[in-house]
Amino acid sequence: MDIIKDAMEFAWQIFAGDTGGHDFYHTLRVYHLATAIAREENADLEIVQLAALLHDVDDHKISPQTYGDKGRAVAFLKAHGVPCERIAQIVQIISAVSFRRNSGRPDSLEAMCVQDADRLDALGALGIARAFAYGGSRGRGIYDPSGLDKTTTIDHFYDKLLKLKDMMNTKTGQKMAADRDRFTRSFLDEFFAEWEGSR
Ligand code: ADP
Ligand code: NI
Repeated sequence: MDIIKDAMEFAWQIFAGDTGGHDFYHTLRVYHLATAIAREENADLEIVQLAALLHDVDDHKISPQTYGDKGRAVAFLKAHGVPCERIAQIVQIISAVSFRRNSGRPDSLEAMCVQDADRLDALGALGIARAFAYGGSRGRGIYDPSGLDKTTTIDHFYDKLLKLKDMMNTKTGQKMAADRDRFTRSFLDEFFAEWEGSR
């Protein structure tokens, strides 16, 4: 029984069809990013991979009734015979990652890897695409030049996305975030130049 493959299948069933920035491919990208970071950082690969694949299955927007106890992730892991202490480790990672972004540093290397991977997917070309998809799904505007509407997607860049680079936990994550942050900033330069008609 390949538990990683089953976890992928489980995530696919939950997220297929979501268009608000939480589609299955977000989970898959976080899995690949977390795997790459975990290898560089010598973290426990299976813990990182399972936590990455399950990190959003109990998200408060998707499954508010299991957000507290991570019930879906726990049920999956139990059904696959994962020992209790490893389940507890994975639940701790998922809680650390899903907790509001400005919370302190997670206390395990594995949690740091998954949190970095999740944050990386909110930056760069993919992060930009997700932000506008999310904003659109909530009926938010692209940008308000008067500054009165502070809920536009461009506001989200300043509220959150441009802060992520300095919140990365691992050296590997920091390096990857630096590139994505540069790209995100150059997107904003181009955006405003085009907005004002100077390019
Ligand atoms: P995750 O669960 O993957 O950590 P969130 O649920 O916080 O992330 O957000 C999902 C995606 O939607 C991210 O790419 C994030 O940048 C984007 N997003 C969240 N809030 C907003 C917002 N107010 N405006 C635009 N995009 C947003
Ligand atoms: Ni996520």
